[in-house]
Amino acid sequence: MQRYERIDGGKTTLAILLGETGAPQLLHFGARLSDGADLAEIASALRSGLRESTPDHPVPPALYPTCGFGWMGEPAISGAHEGGDGALDWAHCSARREGERLVIALSDTRTGIHVELTYAINPGSGVLSAQARIANRGEHTFRLQQAASLCLPLPSWATHVLGFSGDWSREGQAIRTALDTGVWSQTNRTGRTGFGGATLVAIDANTSDDAGRAIAVHLAWSGNHSLGIETLPDGQRMATAGAHLAPGEVDLAPGGMFETPVAYAGYSDAGFNGISDAFHPFVRTQILPANAKAVRRVHFNSWEAAYFDFDESSLIDLARAAAGLGVERFVLDDGWFAGRRDDTSSLGDWRVDRDRFADGLAPLIDEVHALGMDFGLWVEPEMVSPDSDLYRTHPDWCVQAPDASRPTMRNQLWLDMAREEVRDHIHGQLDALLSTNAIAYLKWDCNRFLYPAVSEGAPAATRIVRGTYALMDRLKASHPTVEIESCASGGARMDLEILKRASRVWPSDTTDAIERLRIQRWAGLILPPEVIGAHVGPSPNPITGRDLPMAFRARVAMFGHMGVEADPRKLGAEDREILAAHIELYKRHRKLLHTGRHLRWRTDDAAEAWISVSPTADQALLLACRTEVARHAESAPVRIGGLDRATRFRVTLCPPWPKIASRRLHDADGWGDSRTFSGEALSEIGLRLPLADPLTAWLVHLERV
Ligand code: DGJ
Repeated sequence: MQRYERIDGGKTTLAILLGETGAPQLLHFGARLSDGADLAEIASALRSGLRESTPDHPVPPALYPTCGFGWMGEPAISGAHEGGDGALDWAHCSARREGERLVIALSDTRTGIHVELTYAINPGSGVLSAQARIANRGEHTFRLQQAASLCLPLPSWATHVLGFSGDWSREGQAIRTALDTGVWSQTNRTGRTGFGGATLVAIDANTSDDAGRAIAVHLAWSGNHSLGIETLPDGQRMATAGAHLAPGEVDLAPGGMFETPVAYAGYSDAGFNGISDAFHPFVRTQILPANAKAVRRVHFNSWEAAYFDFDESSLIDLARAAAGLGVERFVLDDGWFAGRRDDTSSLGDWRVDRDRFADGLAPLIDEVHALGMDFGLWVEPEMVSPDSDLYRTHPDWCVQAPDASRPTMRNQLWLDMAREEVRDHIHGQLDALLSTNAIAYLKWDCNRFLYPAVSEGAPAATRIVRGTYALMDRLKASHPTVEIESCASGGARMDLEILKRASRVWPSDTTDAIERLRIQRWAGLILPPEVIGAHVGPSPNPITGRDLPMAFRARVAMFGHMGVEADPRKLGAEDREILAAHIELYKRHRKLLHTGRHLRWRTDDAAEAWISVSPTADQALLLACRTEVARHAESAPVRIGGLDRATRFRVTLCPPWPKIASRRLHDADGWGDSRTFSGEALSEIGLRLPLADPLTAWLVHLERV
């Protein structure tokens, strides 16, 4: 007998067809179907007849295919029992509801492998979550080779893929590819999400920012992973996302169970902006920890101003200068602990360096508080330096293959977070630090790849990552108000599982605003702007050497969680004034920036606009900028989407105006402070701003008249 199941939420429906046996088939994932939609009719409309040279029982793409019974594509699950044949046959398939969740149970009676697939669609945002639990009820150990979190047969309109690649300070490079027969895949074995942000992929129909359909799939996992899209020779196309398992990493003893990470998928028929429209509210309401809802204070982070070169009094100087700009949180980066003078030592010894801080951190923290700021501190809890007391005492606590070399990266080793005593020890040190100092925020860094991912002689990448989650959870339970930032040499650990614990991410070590336009744009596809740390760096930029105007740097930073990395004492008077004014603007508009819709718009010749629109569509803040000389002197009008079309808006061009305005802005004098336009004209036709010269950045505020 065939049965149909559907779940709905937001603008999305998942509809599936179940038989008594075999994995369920996907009827639809996409636009919400009407309540009375006839799923049997949809199934019959989709059915295909027999073709030559194919199995006698057609094997359509299923939600959790195996190998061995006619599906010739990538399986969702593979593995074998000791001495077994590796074939898995879903002889039983059933469905049940657990609240709003749909649970599908699949079992292979021959081997005793049972799988439960859990699907839910968030009612507000329409984001689908999917997770698999694999249980071994057989009599022998089952060596699990792969287990997808989500397996999604794709509709025929899905012809393109937007994937991401990256490297240190070059995160989030978008790569568009037209799909064809074969496999498109992204695998990451660095033990982190990776610089490329490869846990996210969007499958689309050559979609633009504001038009076209797309499905975005994200694996909420901070470790090794694999995302793939396979197109079979007959045209069937399937997306899969799951943790990447090393051989022998998951051996399920009889009675054992493996739970995959959760994968999320969102659907849009309004371009990539529609993907953000689904994910941003979802992340805000369902993912972020409770304390992430606090006002996003303006940070000062000491790294680019001081690196390892500071003492208590120079930091107090820096704190005073930062407070003078309007900064609200002072974050002391690397170098504050036990003999750490460069990156060659001391990780693992989380006690205050008494040569630098004779009386501990208290005098600095007191001064920071007296200046009206709170205090944050850098840590790298999963790491140990070979030159450290921790390593000298417990040389076996790092991940290592017995009797093999211990290759370092940035002169450090990764602690074995799969072991409870290691977690206990690190927790003890961090707990003491947080209990004896008024620390509001931890910048949690992670500066190497995880290799060899071995714990006590066995492959353990997944368990090590879960150990980090457990450590963070324990620390958050005892210090619930402390906010955590997820940093991994910049943006190598940004995913929705770490963001259940961290309030924000540091998306890149580069603070060059031109690089940040690209990096923040793509991080912002699923992450709301307030989660993306964005600091104003020095000029010339220490990484790229580029000189950029302060207004440009400050405006790009305003569209994230704003902070400052440049040494305020080294800024000229005009730059200091411009920066302070933008910090003030950020404070005035952060409610809009951090609760609104975030829309992107782009021309094909590198003009870029970001628009934050208030939830009631009566106010917006627009950044319109350009990084290269335009091909045409006449700029395209910027369409300001998302506004209430039926009302008029007061449009204010925030000072300072780009220099080009004096020549090119029509009736510059007539603009005065502001002008009014209809919402319809602004969103449908747009506002022509002079935008042809490089390094132009307009900040525009719009408010209902
Ligand atoms: C890498 C981070 O991304 C930087 O911001 C800084 O915190 C350094 N580590 C400190 O070692």
